[in-house]
Amino acid sequence: MQKGFTLWFTGLSGSGKSTLANMVEQTLLERGLNVEVLDGDVVRTNLSKGLGFSKEDRDINIRRIGFVCNLLTRNGVVAIGAAISPYKAIRNENRKLIGRFVEIYVSCPLERLAERDVKGLYKKAMAGEIKGFTGVDDPYEPPDNPEITIDSSKETPEQSHDKIIRTLELMGFIPAAEGADYSPEEEEKIKKRLKDLGYL
Ligand code: ADX
Repeated sequence: MQKGFTLWFTGLSGSGKSTLANMVEQTLLERGLNVEVLDGDVVRTNLSKGLGFSKEDRDINIRRIGFVCNLLTRNGVVAIGAAISPYKAIRNENRKLIGRFVEIYVSCPLERLAERDVKGLYKKAMAGEIKGFTGVDDPYEPPDNPEITIDSSKETPEQSHDKIIRTLELMGFIPAAEGADYSPEEEEKIKKRLKDLGYL
């Protein structure tokens, strides 16, 4: 049986978590792996329906997603979590619970997110029409030691996707695909990162 693991995306609203989660999911499915995505926006319409955005409610939401990721992971599935998950302590709780846990910090400067503003929420938050919006007037704690860091204002989604897949290959979490073409510089950066974290 394939060995499961959890890929945990964290970052501000609109930073690209869901886009990347879905791209990575597609590649893993094409490689014959079993994959499930738990997306914050989707989870909040069912499993976490009724929860708001207080610290307490966000913590419950993130613990629930972590709980399900753990069930999936221990049954050989690749679980992909994609929620803002603003608090370091709760993400680390999930890391401890799950064990095979790869954290991806999707960073993007607030100015760029506010410019893009796909859902129109930053405009409202900055005008004070939504209170407690992450990154505007509510905290976001970036991870200290994410396995992977993405800067979605500087990388294309394809570049970020390739970096994630290559990292998973080098960590031995997924089999390496034949004929993949990564730039030697990028490959070196990933290897250095994994060495620093003690994986290699
Ligand atoms: S989390 O904090 O509990 O991890 P989650 O990822 O599930 O958040 O949901 C975030 C999404 O909810 C955002 O992308 C945005 O569309 C919406 N949202 C509504 N209100 C807020 C808010 N106050 N802060 C952040 N996101 C909000």
